[in-house]
Amino acid sequence: MKRLIQTMILLAPLALVAQTSNVVLPQDKGPDKIDVSAYPAAQQANYKLFAGKCSKCHTIARPLNTMMTKAEWERYVKRMMHKPNSGISDTQGKQIFEFVVYDQTERKDKNPKAFFKALSDEEIDKLKKQ
Ligand code: HEC
Repeated sequence: MKRLIQTMILLAPLALVAQTSNVVLPQDKGPDKIDVSAYPAAQQANYKLFAGKCSKCHTIARPLNTMMTKAEWERYVKRMMHKPNSGISDTQGKQIFEFVVYDQTERKDKNPKAFFKALSDEEIDKLKKQ
């Protein structure tokens, strides 16, 4: 029993590392904040929530610099919510989704060259194996 507990204590940090994103994606190198002062008040509040919740495993630069369609954002926010210990409730996920879609239309779609296309699952797996 003592051995088991010792092993669990030793392995605990590994479990934490496993959840965090250990690869660097191109979009991680972009800016890690944006000026939302011209956004509606509700979106400014959603931005705060998004910046707090979505920076736990990778920096906020990753979502801020990724281009996605509305359907892709919906799928992705759910995927991130369902990662172990994401700490994002259904209501918060919805608010974050509203922000990323608003920001996509208002900022990214107007200047698509400044941002990165989302990587496919296969491309991410390849990077993880390097
Ligand atoms: C529990 C850890 C964790 C949290 C919290 C998290 N992410 Fe991620 N994110 C990852 C990992 C790991 C990857 C790499 C791909 C994968 O393994 O799914 C990733 C990848 C991404 C990508 C890259 C997509 C691509 O294909 O280029 C985006 C965008 C993203 N996350 C957005 C978000 C948003 C928005 C939130 C908040 C709702 C969030 N993440 C919260 C772990 C997390």
